[in-house]
Amino acid sequence: MVTFIHLITTLLFLSATVSSCPPSDLEALLAVKSSLKEPYLKIFNTWTGAQCCSNWFGVSCDPTTGRVADLTLRGESEDPIFQKSGRTGGYMTGSIDPAICRLDKLTTLIVADWKAVSGQIPTCIATSLTSLRVLDLVGNQISGNIPADIGNLQSLAVLNLADNQISGGIPASIVKLKSLKHLDLGNNKISGGIPADFGNLVMLSRALLNRNQLTGPIPSSIGKMYRLADLDLAMNQISGSIPPELGKMRVLSTLNLDSNQISGQIPPALLSNSGMGILNLSRNALEGNIPDVFGSNSYFMVLDLSYNNLKGPIPGSLSSSKFVGHLDLSHNHLCGSIPIGSPFDQFEAPSFANNDCLCGNPLKTC
Ligand SMILES: *[C@@H]1O[C@H](CO)[C@@H](O)[C@H](O)[C@H]1NC(C)=O
Repeated sequence: MVTFIHLITTLLFLSATVSSCPPSDLEALLAVKSSLKEPYLKIFNTWTGAQCCSNWFGVSCDPTTGRVADLTLRGESEDPIFQKSGRTGGYMTGSIDPAICRLDKLTTLIVADWKAVSGQIPTCIATSLTSLRVLDLVGNQISGNIPADIGNLQSLAVLNLADNQISGGIPASIVKLKSLKHLDLGNNKISGGIPADFGNLVMLSRALLNRNQLTGPIPSSIGKMYRLADLDLAMNQISGSIPPELGKMRVLSTLNLDSNQISGQIPPALLSNSGMGILNLSRNALEGNIPDVFGSNSYFMVLDLSYNNLKGPIPGSLSSSKFVGHLDLSHNHLCGSIPIGSPFDQFEAPSFANNDCLCGNPLKTC
């Protein structure tokens, strides 16, 4: 009986030590709390006492080490705390305190969609939080640069800094992120070029760099990214021609290069690639003919080539495509009769408007 009671007390003692917060993590969390203000949901009211691993909103710990492993603060979520407050989206001000870097076993850091968290990304994140797998700060007003040493984060699989005010260039070290699967830097003020060896990110399946101020060419090394399904470089100032390598990518199904300064001809393989489902090359300086390479495996949800300098006829092979959902060839210098065939029956005049001399249904008869 005595040993039994002893066993029970030992178990109780063990469970208490596992769920209590290591003092250094507790101190770091309290510093993070004091730099952020969240007045509506009052999530930080839960950040009191010593049990940071059990009752603190958004905090969770590794069950074996007891160290803080996850910090997940989302301003848009299904959490009951949002329903209770009657608000759909959260609002938070302040900044991310560099004390966060003392949580050196952190694998997930999410401070997302709070609209107004500002300040810079602490540079120590890149040197101290080497276990990070997810860094998601989307939808705030974070400014300053992406830490130059970001490439240190060898476990990083998700880097989402979209919808902020981040400036400066894409750090050269980013290509060292061997585990990176999802990169979203869209809608910031990032300038400079895309690193020439960007294609070293061979695990990447989504690369979203749209709505920035990027210049220079599309690196041909991107052709090596055999898992890349979604490449979005829209609304930048990218120049040069489209690397033909992009046409040979097996899983690339969404390619948005619209609203840039891309010149040269459309690589034929880009249009004959049967995996390509969304292709937007609108508002560039593309020239030459539209390659006549479509076939019965072509399946385009979107094919937007509008606002370029394309000339010649609409290729007849486009009418043999399996499916073309949205077609826009307007504002070019195309000429000749619009092909007849099933995909063309549904298109209306705006798809062909403002060309040099197109004719036939749905435009005037030839
Ligand atoms: C293609 O890009 C242009 C310019 O950025 C945009 O206006 C258009 O809506 C896009 N097309 C489609 C079908 O999304």
